[in-house]
Amino acid sequence: MKTNFPVEQLRGLQTPFYYYDMSLLQATLDVIKKETAKYQGYHVHYAVKANANDKIIKLICDNGFGVDCVSGGEVKAGLDAGCAPEKIVYAGVGKADWEINLGLDADIFCFNVESLPELEIINELAAQKGKVARIALRINPNVDAHTHHYITTGLNENKFGISMEHLDGMIERIASMANVKLIGLHFHIGSQILETEPFMNLCLRVNEIQDQLDAKGVNVEIINVGGGLGIDYKNPDQNPIPDFAGYFATFNEHLKLRDGQELHFELGRAVVCQCGSLITKVLYVKEGVNKKFVIVDAGMSDLIRPALYGAHHEIENLTSTGAEQTYDVVGPICESSDCFGKEERLPETKRGDLFALRSAGAYGQIMACQYNCRTLPAAIYSNEL
Ligand code: LLP
Repeated sequence: MKTNFPVEQLRGLQTPFYYYDMSLLQATLDVIKKETAKYQGYHVHYAVKANANDKIIKLICDNGFGVDCVSGGEVKAGLDAGCAPEKIVYAGVGKADWEINLGLDADIFCFNVESLPELEIINELAAQKGKVARIALRINPNVDAHTHHYITTGLNENKFGISMEHLDGMIERIASMANVKLIGLHFHIGSQILETEPFMNLCLRVNEIQDQLDAKGVNVEIINVGGGLGIDYKNPDQNPIPDFAGYFATFNEHLKLRDGQELHFELGRAVVCQCGSLITKVLYVKEGVNKKFVIVDAGMSDLIRPALYGAHHEIENLTSTGAEQTYDVVGPICESSDCFGKEERLPETKRGDLFALRSAGAYGQIMACQYNCRTLPAAIYSNEL
């Protein structure tokens, strides 16, 4: 399912902006529904951090999915978009008191707890409200996701989760607490994971932990394996929908769920990435020494992934079919890292052409900032044009 850009309609709009192909998002959601329905007790919470636009969250929740949040702001965004509180999970190493209170007041499904001091505070705040907070312990499984070090989260050196050594102590402590109830175990090893092996290793680690807990007579209702499924940044048109079938099958094959236990997922990028593109206009084509620069009106403030992670987004000229030439594609921001592509082969480009920076639906608009006093990019939805 290829994104067809309605170029004539896009031409008249103020650039840069994010364009969302809502039919592709719906098609992606349909595949996730179909694939999870093959198994008993599989639940997907969309990771709002990937894209918190209300229309996107709403469509996802209207399709029956929950949300995964990492801040009070995200919990609010989920609730405002109509997500049922009993489908909201909330993780994060640094939950402030007001954020915990917000979750308690809304009766969210589960707090994913990342440390002992946090557990103590949740217990205390829940006691003040006469409530019992449902919690899952986020365990750092020390599994290598083989991805960029900035988006690896499940290694001992990372700040996330509770190390395996501290798990027993935490469980004993919970047993003596009146205002928290342990319902699950939570894991998340990293993002943009394209191999099966890290997910398989995660399953094996979860199995080991469950065996240890069984021996102690501890049972939990849910296992939450986080998110992390990657997407094909190189070929957005050939692979617009990630391999959800293979992903869920890996867990089904390797993870040993106990009777009645549910398996929860927190997918972000895989859900929304391919439906979004950053649309930008060519301001100038500038002759450099031995190279040509295309200067576009979007910069790293609109899409920071190339500058921050060295990520590459496919660049498409939507308005030229000229003979290919080689260009460096750069933004207007006063930083050399404000570069979207070096030595890109693109049709001959001129001032006024429209470019699409593809696969930008996840961690694109949500990470935009106003550096250089720029305006935040708008969102345009295919079903509203
Ligand atoms: N659950 C937890 C606890 C997480 O920390 C994350 C992402 C997810 C779920 C969703 O992961 P996903 O399915 O999207 O891989 N800004 C980076 C990605 C950071 C991911 C942070 N955590 C990027 O642009 O690549």
